[in-house]
Amino acid sequence: MTDHPSSTINRRLTVSSIGLGKLGLCSAACFAGKGHAVIGVDSDGPHVAALQAGRCPIDEPGLSDLLDQCRHNMNFTTDYGRAVRDSDITLITVPTPSDSSGRFSNACIETVLERMAEALKAKTTFHIVGIISTVMPGTCERIFKPMLESLTGKVCGLDFGLLYNPEFVALGSVIHDFLHPDLLLIGASDDRSAQTARSLYASVVESNPYYALMNLTNAEITKLSLNCYVTMKISFANELASICERIPGADVDVVTTAIGADARVGRKYLKGGLGFGGPCFPRDNLAFQRCAEDAGTRAHLSPRVVEVNRQIVQRLFTMVGEHALPGSTVALLGLSYKPGTHIVEESQPLMLAEKLLDAGYIVRMHDPKALASASAVLRGRGVYCDCPYEAVAGASTVIMLTPWPQYSQLDINRLEERVAPLPLLIDCWRIYRGVPFRKFAYQPFGTAVQSSGRIAYDIGASILHPDGRRRAPVLGRPAVQHPALT
Ligand SMILES: NC(=O)c1ccc[n+]([C@@H]2O[C@H](COP(=O)([O-])OP(=O)(O)OC[C@H]3O[C@@H](n4cnc5c(N)ncnc54)[C@H](O)[C@@H]3O)[C@@H](O)[C@H]2O)c1
Repeated sequence: MTDHPSSTINRRLTVSSIGLGKLGLCSAACFAGKGHAVIGVDSDGPHVAALQAGRCPIDEPGLSDLLDQCRHNMNFTTDYGRAVRDSDITLITVPTPSDSSGRFSNACIETVLERMAEALKAKTTFHIVGIISTVMPGTCERIFKPMLESLTGKVCGLDFGLLYNPEFVALGSVIHDFLHPDLLLIGASDDRSAQTARSLYASVVESNPYYALMNLTNAEITKLSLNCYVTMKISFANELASICERIPGADVDVVTTAIGADARVGRKYLKGGLGFGGPCFPRDNLAFQRCAEDAGTRAHLSPRVVEVNRQIVQRLFTMVGEHALPGSTVALLGLSYKPGTHIVEESQPLMLAEKLLDAGYIVRMHDPKALASASAVLRGRGVYCDCPYEAVAGASTVIMLTPWPQYSQLDINRLEERVAPLPLLIDCWRIYRGVPFRKFAYQPFGTAVQSSGRIAYDIGASILHPDGRRRAPVLGRPAVQHPALT
């Protein structure tokens, strides 16, 4: 497939976007915001009605304002035929949930293709069908292409085009990420479709991305392997953090800043802290393993990456257990899998909350956006607090989990006034480094370096019972540096 920039579209394309969820609605709004007419389709009637009525049913930074600005370019409908008839290209962004084996289900995409087929069959001009949803490698060639050909009687690449064109966006910054990609991945059945997609995206993005034009299967493999590679980097940094924590004088930030400066490594996703979660990284990892098995081989690294990731919640749980017994209060600051979103899917803070609750701790939680979604998953167990100062009331352990920007602005004196005696602060992202604590023993992830705050680098020496008694230090480990004891 040629990779030349000369192909341009002289007119604005009309785009139909099927599946108006967290990703599909944001990308549809971005196309409309850049002057393309967009027909948005969703099977959820009330969702479409809300959009038709001018409401924004998805909580994503910047989306509501963008929709308000570009509504004149957007139409919302449940009519798939109209979407195909009145547009040049249809982008499909419907759910592909993982099945019990970890492979992605195609059911929603197949339903969409069936519903598009009649209009596609009747269409006399070349129409492009783009799959944005994550799928297993080989799916477009083996399943979608023959399915569309048999439903329409047309030939893929000649009468219509097929794209696999996934996005690399993170919830909480979908619009920014969509408009500023490093990489635009375009898998295509034919050159015409590839060049059309390239020109469409070039008319929208505000960065200068690398356009990777390739066949459908390579694009499917690229999507999964890129996410798996990123998680491997995250797990490497997290494992390094857990090692540095145990070596007096070591500091994971010093080490990762240095190795990240090497162009072979790079700084992004190299900060030791909590593990990855959310709707993409964990399941892309599993799917990558299944993809290898389907190809008759094994992925060796990916299962280890997942294992390192899983150990982090256990490590936190152990840290809490070495400090305070069940029955005492633990305050969790941050529940979403990352800042900027209410999503708690595969969120490590939520996994920790569940583990602590199961073990009998009193868990008080705060999150700027995720309290309701967390409460739904935890079935209302635990105490949900509207402000962080309320969350730490009576807590013998406070854990800073999701690095929301507002947590770095907290008044530490006010926190310390509310906690239990001899409190421990575990800081997964080291945002309170250098703070002169009066009460907290400070346990940052990833370092055993003394700072102006006291560092409890051996929590095992400072086990606090709910009745205030303390257990003897664990032999062979340095004594806890607790301000209340020194
Ligand atoms: N959210 C992300 O950050 C992200 C990033 C990369 C890839 N993806 C992939 O994109 C796909 C969609 O993810 P999402 O987070 O936007 O999902 P979502 O659940 O937020 O939204 C999906 C939308 O599709 C609609 N839908 C379901 N079945 C439909 C059908 N048959 N016809 C029309 N509409 C239908 C739903 O009503 C919903 O509005 C998934 O495959 C996901 O893996 C998502």
